[in-house]
Amino acid sequence: MSERFHIVGISGSLRKHSHNTQLLHNAAALLPEDFRFTLADISVLPLYNQDLESELPEAVKQFAELLHSGNGFLISSPEYNGQLSGALKNALDWASRPALQTPLAQKPVALMGATPGMGGTGRAQVGIRSLLFALNMDSVNRPEFLLPQSHTKFDESGALTDPMAQQIMQQLVDNLVTKIKKHASEQ
Ligand SMILES: Cc1cc2nc3c(=O)[nH]c(=O)nc-3n(C[C@H](O)[C@H](O)[C@H](O)COP(=O)(O)O)c2cc1C
Repeated sequence: MSERFHIVGISGSLRKHSHNTQLLHNAAALLPEDFRFTLADISVLPLYNQDLESELPEAVKQFAELLHSGNGFLISSPEYNGQLSGALKNALDWASRPALQTPLAQKPVALMGATPGMGGTGRAQVGIRSLLFALNMDSVNRPEFLLPQSHTKFDESGALTDPMAQQIMQQLVDNLVTKIKKHASEQ
């Protein structure tokens, strides 16, 4: 079957062996055949600076192009000091431009988070949800996906091994897919 829909993944962690990036790869593997997945590289984005908007850096242009091509988005972020990661905030600030014409507006998005700690990134997710609201995205609100003690929940190949987390992730992906198809049918 040809791929009709495109999901763009954004990991809030720049770490090579990031649990959050692993979550995105696991979720991508659950997508139906007519979906393709691309992981955005937000490490190449400069720090947001409004002065750069008059001549956008190449990395920002490519990021915006990728976002425009997305029918939906999957975000997974660590929690740093009780907040979302700075890298994710920076990427979403770039993605919010130009004001009111963001490539993300009204597009479906689902959120996840992993931490070796006990809180599952709950505090960071509150902040991310308010950002998604600012971007006027269409968030999947349920189920909430929080992965505490993440260092115990992947095998050596990076596959998620926790049965409860697998089940919740499947439901989250299904809800995102349903939302994307609903959007497509309304256009
Ligand atoms: C500066 C810093 C602050 C952190 N603060 C928190 C925190 O507030 N809550 C939490 O659950 N984990 C916290 N952690 C632990 C991260 O969740 C952990 O490093 C995690 O593995 C990062 O996600 P990743 O595996 O995707 O890179 C912090 C880590 C760092 C480096």
